[in-house]
Amino acid sequence: RGGDDDRIGGEVKLEPYRLYNLDVFEYELRETMALYGSVPLLISHQVVPSTWSSPASSSTSAVFWLNAAETWVDVAYEQAGAESHWFSESGIVDFFVLLGPTPSKVSSQYAALTGTTPLPPLFSLAYHQCRWNYKDEADVAEVNSKFDVHNLPMDVIWLDIEHTNSKKYFTWDPIKFPTPDKMLAGVASKGRRMVTIVDPHIKREDGYHIHDGATARDFYVKRPEGGSYEGFCWPGASMYLDFTSAEVRAWWAEQFAYTAYRGSSDSLFIWNDMNEPSVFNGPEVTMFKDLMHHGGWEHRDVHNLFGLYVHRATYEGLVRRNADHNARPFVLSRALYAGSQRYGAIWTGDNAAQWDHLEFSVPMLLSLGVSGITFSGADVGGFFGNPDTELLTRWYQAGAYQPFFRGHAHLDAKRREPYLFDQLTLDRIRSALRARYALLPFWYTQFYLASHSGAPVMRPLWYQYPTDPEVLTNQDSFLIGSDLLVRPVVHAGGISARVYLPGSEPWYDVVSLETFGSGAPSYITVSAPLDKIPVFQRGGSIVPRQERPRRSTTQMVHDPYTLVVALDSRGSADGELYVDDFRTFNYQRSSEFVHRRFTYDNNVLESLPAHQTQFQVDNVIERITIVGLKRLPTKVVLRQDGAESSLDFSSPTHNSIIIRQPNAAVSKNWRLTLQF
Ligand code: NOJ
Repeated sequence: RGGDDDRIGGEVKLEPYRLYNLDVFEYELRETMALYGSVPLLISHQVVPSTWSSPASSSTSAVFWLNAAETWVDVAYEQAGAESHWFSESGIVDFFVLLGPTPSKVSSQYAALTGTTPLPPLFSLAYHQCRWNYKDEADVAEVNSKFDVHNLPMDVIWLDIEHTNSKKYFTWDPIKFPTPDKMLAGVASKGRRMVTIVDPHIKREDGYHIHDGATARDFYVKRPEGGSYEGFCWPGASMYLDFTSAEVRAWWAEQFAYTAYRGSSDSLFIWNDMNEPSVFNGPEVTMFKDLMHHGGWEHRDVHNLFGLYVHRATYEGLVRRNADHNARPFVLSRALYAGSQRYGAIWTGDNAAQWDHLEFSVPMLLSLGVSGITFSGADVGGFFGNPDTELLTRWYQAGAYQPFFRGHAHLDAKRREPYLFDQLTLDRIRSALRARYALLPFWYTQFYLASHSGAPVMRPLWYQYPTDPEVLTNQDSFLIGSDLLVRPVVHAGGISARVYLPGSEPWYDVVSLETFGSGAPSYITVSAPLDKIPVFQRGGSIVPRQERPRRSTTQMVHDPYTLVVALDSRGSADGELYVDDFRTFNYQRSSEFVHRRFTYDNNVLESLPAHQTQFQVDNVIERITIVGLKRLPTKVVLRQDGAESSLDFSSPTHNSIIIRQPNAAVSKNWRLTLQF
């Protein structure tokens, strides 16, 4: 979360980075000190500017210091380059040098060592509604229905710690949540899911089945002098399962079986919090370093891995709870380490309802992304405090374009479900939510690609334009994949935004289709009143969308698609669409997916398989927008199934057309020709 000073060059003297996973209360920005997660990866990127005889070039490389003990990294910027100095308190160090030489090569080299994010179920890329806490089952039912009444799309309702019986995870408060199966069924009947929190500290109470089971098996972290360690957390006296042990993890995983986790169902998913681990009465709110883990390791040796192991065990539990191992899990974790990406999403913890926390969500998520942790988000609205309607609106607008998109708030914060605000605010938040849902086909395709490449879905500009020195320090904008550039407004009273458009191809405003920046990289200033978030599509790309407003992703499965074809200066573009059942592993097990490639060249848009599979979907393409045309066609002809048809179109701007109802099948090959 380093800020403006955290940059190359100059005389800036940075404090060393401290990698030691901690539950930091009201964390500060512009700090190199410990926070919830750590990834001991340092990426170096160098631009060699162009000269009269050679174009600009760049080189990217990285070092990965695989050690889970407390680690310090000092980075010194010298005139000639940068130097880093690493030390860890204990344990074994495996040291990897990743040679790049491009950002995407560094991602794939790092992914080969630590893994990638498996394709998330679609609902988890949609909007999540959380707070600490939804009070009872009636409250959940009300939130569920009010989102519908106000036409707000939403996929998941979350329950924080108060849903349990006295902070005993895997149980329900008997008064407030007496019929969890009914509640879950009610939410599921609208196509939505729920998430409950399951923290890794276990209430020390005889008769609590988790505590009894763990005690009988002697599964707790040990004191150096022997005996199980007891700390203090939400439940009061708490014990800590030793997640570094494979046996403990396997047992934990079993606790998610539908028969073990009473009241759960296949529409319930999990949130692991406090897994740094957080111990309220421990040193720096965590465990003593001399506690003992499985295999004779001291806590100091494995500290930064603890949270990853909790996340992993939960993920494995959700894989196993289905006899056929078929439904994909979703697990959110707060603590993280190198490799956490394999188990689900993470979020940036307890931020605050302040403008600079919104601003810093961008560099924080970008840093996580280039460190392999691509499914990440920040609490929308800010956890502590009460955002005013302007901040909340801007936060929804930014969050709609960040990978994990969840509104969340502290127990003492005022209720802030979007429908509680004035009409204008509600309308603006609804548009931000709809903007997210419309782009879900694009997000899902990007996550599919990232599950193979390890590239971040949300990327810094330098990642995609590595030879451009202008973007090195840019952290006010970001890309989704390579095709959408987002410049959230993160300052109070902002009504315009200065945006750097990199590369030598045009960019198109995704709403107005206005064309910007042809020919050379440039700064533009665009108007950005409170109902506008500047987002641009790259010339040369084709972005799939689904634009029918729905209450959740469940209702979108059979919806038609829109393709937005944004032409580059040569009049070409390409893009991809990945579709499957959105929720199971059948795409891996039996190739049940459709992966199409769209290309536009010489006035012809063509759909061909990117992968050959037998799987079919019934969706069609109901609209195709083509922008960046040098002249407008007189006729548009679709060839599909051996037949030709002439299509209706209109031209909303001087260089674009909208083709209505082409009804081209998503699963089939087809070809569309513009005639002049
Ligand atoms: C700390 C988490 O960061 C926060 O999101 C959560 O609401 C509280 N714990 C209570 O569980």
